[in-house]
Amino acid sequence: MIARETTPLTFVPVQEEHLPDIMAISADAYPDSWTEGMFRDEFGNHLSHFYVAFDGATLVGYAGFWLVADEVHITTIAVRLDRRGRGYGRQLMDHLLESAGALGATLAALEVRATNAPAINLYTALGFRIAGRRKGYYSKTNEDAIVMMKDLS
Ligand SMILES: CC(C)(COP(=O)(O)OP(=O)(O)OC[C@H]1O[C@@H](n2cnc3c(N)ncnc32)[C@H](O)[C@@H]1OP(=O)(O)O)[C@@H](O)C(=O)NCCC(=O)NCCS
Repeated sequence: MIARETTPLTFVPVQEEHLPDIMAISADAYPDSWTEGMFRDEFGNHLSHFYVAFDGATLVGYAGFWLVADEVHITTIAVRLDRRGRGYGRQLMDHLLESAGALGATLAALEVRATNAPAINLYTALGFRIAGRRKGYYSKTNEDAIVMMKDLS
C-alpha cells in the first residue's frame, strides 16, 4: 500500500461569511444542490452541527449532522472538486464522528445515492454498514438511497 500525504485540516463551526464558498462547493458536488435558503435554515437549526474545513486559508469542504436524542443523522458532506482524493473527506467524517461522540451520540445514520461509489467506499471504510434502501429517494434524479449506519457506543 502506498502511504498518502494528507494535510491536517482545521475545522470551525459554520458562519455566514462561509456561505459563498459553501455554495460553490455544493454546486459542483450535487445534481440537486441545496439552495442558499436551505443552508441558512440549516445554520439556524438548533439540532444542526455544521462545520467547515480549512487547508490554510482555503475553505476545502463542509459537513454537518443533526443530533436528535442520542442519534446523529449526517445531513451533508462535500469536498471542493479540485481537492478531492487527498484524505479530506475522511478527515471531515472523522471530525463529525468525534464531535457526535463527544455529544453523547451512540448511533450515526446517513443516506447516500446508490450510485455514489466514492461516498459509499468512504463510509464503509469508516465502519458504516448498509441498513436499508429507499426507492426513488432523490426525486430530481429518481435515484435510490442506501441507508447506512454506524454504532458509536
Ligand atoms: C465523497 C467525498 C466527500 C469524498 O471526499 P474525498 O476528500 O475525495 O475523499 P478522501 O480522499 O478522504 O477518500 C477517503 C475514502 O473515500 C473513498 N473514495 C474517495 N474517492 C473515491 C473515488 N473516486 N472512487 C472510489 N472511492 C473513493 C475511498 O475509500 C477513500 O479511501 P482510500 O483513499 O484509502 O481508498 C467527495 O467525493 C465529494 O465531495 N463528493 C461530492 C459530494 C458527495 O457525494 N457527498 C456525499 C453525499 S452522501
